[in-house]
Amino acid sequence: MGPIGPMGPASARTGDGTESTSFGRREVQIWRVWLSTTDSALGYYRAALCLDELNRAERFRFENLKRSYIASRGGLRVLLSHYLGCNPRDIEFVCGQNGKPALRGMSPVRFNVSHSGDLALYAFTLDCELGVDVERLRELDDLESIASRFFCAAEASELLSLRPEDRRSAFFRCWTRKEAYVKAVGDGLSIPLDRFQVTLLPGVPCRFVHVAGDSQAALAWTLHDLELAPEYIGALAYQDSPRPTTIRPAVRAEQLPAIVGSV
Ligand SMILES: CC(C)(COP(=O)(O)OP(=O)(O)OC[C@H]1O[C@@H](n2cnc3c(N)ncnc32)[C@H](O)[C@@H]1OP(=O)(O)O)[C@@H](O)C(=O)NCCC(=O)NCCS
Repeated sequence: MGPIGPMGPASARTGDGTESTSFGRREVQIWRVWLSTTDSALGYYRAALCLDELNRAERFRFENLKRSYIASRGGLRVLLSHYLGCNPRDIEFVCGQNGKPALRGMSPVRFNVSHSGDLALYAFTLDCELGVDVERLRELDDLESIASRFFCAAEASELLSLRPEDRRSAFFRCWTRKEAYVKAVGDGLSIPLDRFQVTLLPGVPCRFVHVAGDSQAALAWTLHDLELAPEYIGALAYQDSPRPTTIRPAVRAEQLPAIVGSV
């Protein structure tokens, strides 16, 4: 029942907090958290943040975005405290050149975060950089022009081959798969999105077609669709053969600390 150590599997609590399960060395654990929350939960999360995070929270002009940021970053700290066996406030982050947060020090725990609408998505594993992306499905008038501008030619043409009513979900499928990749690499949108190709047609398995024109290099990567919630679409990418992946039940932000046993 301890935290993940640098050697071998360790235990972790399940989504309802009542059982325990092994967190295998190659496992990926996915958490989903609804961010709209109570003032008291927000106070708990705010108290877990460091000064930089509090300053960043203050810079949001809209109250709902400020609250979402506090709950999302606080939730990340609570989840990491569960895996590391420490207090959420004691976690220290470093920021990669293009903004990817990571743990300071030698921990093998790797994580990535995404949020859209009211949902935050967190992925954790050991010794393998990963990237996740979630998008709330929404109407986009100009998805064909966004695709021709940012996607590679083959993706844009596959999108246009679909009936107009099927394009929105295919667009977001493609978008989340591509964002998951750039977030795994850590370079964010400084990587041109047309340098690599993912599948997007309905019924076609989720995978990389090529990475920088190299279909062999694509085989070193794994791409998963994540079924998260109605009207949300998500993807997970990492450079390794497929890892066992567990998606935890979605929880509300005010439930999370009790579920992970941090309170
Ligand atoms: C990373 C990026 C793809 C995120 O896209 P998004 O869809 O707007 O946001 P998401 O909700 O999916 O992800 C946001 C989270 O990703 C993480 N993140 C930030 N930068 C990241 C990066 N380069 N790689 C991976 N993850 C990153 C953070 O945890 C962030 O959460 P936070 O804002 O609460 O700290 C995009 O914002 C980006 O490209 N940023 C980099 C910008 C850059 O290159 N700046 C250069 C510095 S001058």
